[in-house]
Amino acid sequence: MNKSNYYDKISQVYDKTRWLTESVAEEVADFILDLVAATPKTSFLEPGVGTGLNVIPLVKRGYSVTGIDISEQMLNQFRQKLNRTPENLTLVHADASQLPFANNSFDVVLTVHMLHTVGDRKIFLDEINRVLKPEGFFLNCQWITPPARKEFEAYFRAIQSKYDNYRPKSKSQDKAIEEIDLEQYLREKGYKSNYFVAKKWTVSNTIAELLDFFKSRAYGLCWQASDEEYDKVIIEFEKFCIHHYGSLEREISSEAKFEIWAYRIHLECDRCISVSL
Ligand SMILES: C[S@@+](CC[C@H](N)C(=O)[O-])C[C@H]1O[C@@H](n2cnc3c(N)ncnc32)[C@H](O)[C@@H]1O
Repeated sequence: MNKSNYYDKISQVYDKTRWLTESVAEEVADFILDLVAATPKTSFLEPGVGTGLNVIPLVKRGYSVTGIDISEQMLNQFRQKLNRTPENLTLVHADASQLPFANNSFDVVLTVHMLHTVGDRKIFLDEINRVLKPEGFFLNCQWITPPARKEFEAYFRAIQSKYDNYRPKSKSQDKAIEEIDLEQYLREKGYKSNYFVAKKWTVSNTIAELLDFFKSRAYGLCWQASDEEYDKVIIEFEKFCIHHYGSLEREISSEAKFEIWAYRIHLECDRCISVSL
């Protein structure tokens, strides 16, 4: 596969830039296992599995986990975390828009920060529907950017936009960000849904740490500018940070949430009572 993918470029720094710790991931796994009433035979698929942050606790507990990702480098990072690839883990390097699995293969399909990257979401959702067992769960999840980091990113975007000589978006990029009403699309297929907050936790970073993530171009938005232009953005942004936050050693904290939208055909089970905010 030679499809270019910026996740290949950022795979080595990806985990450092995230805020899902191992202990939080363990607690989220507990929540998910309870939600889907897992038995030792429950099988999981995560399209866009990346470096495995969400599913490693499931692998370690012996569940059958399949991960598929378009970035070989992200998968390599995942593999490096395990001494050897255990028998209950299958990693597939492929485009998840066409899932290379038979119908009715999985009990749970999990997507985490993934749907927005898929060009044709209807086709992707059709694929998820096809590979899910009839009583299976589709869990669309996100661990939202904590507000203090979101604000930091917004300052960066504002400065970057001043240097904006981005190429016009191609049609394929426009298609990639096309929105669909996920809820309605799945409802029409007979799914019912519930929303859960699996975990809330506090995330703290120094400004220097956050700045380093941008210096290493760890996010998609950092790849829109030329190298020369990007250097100028970073110099101006660092000056802004020193002025605005007072010091690069200043620590900022805010709350993160692991959110789950659970979809299931005939979601009348006791486990599917929403947990309120
Ligand atoms: C934001 S990362 C999320 C990774 C992981 N789910 C997590 O929560 O840390 C998105 C992942 O989706 C993968 N990805 C994007 N589009 C894909 C596609 N069409 N097929 C398979 N993987 C894809 C990327 O390579 C990347 O590893």
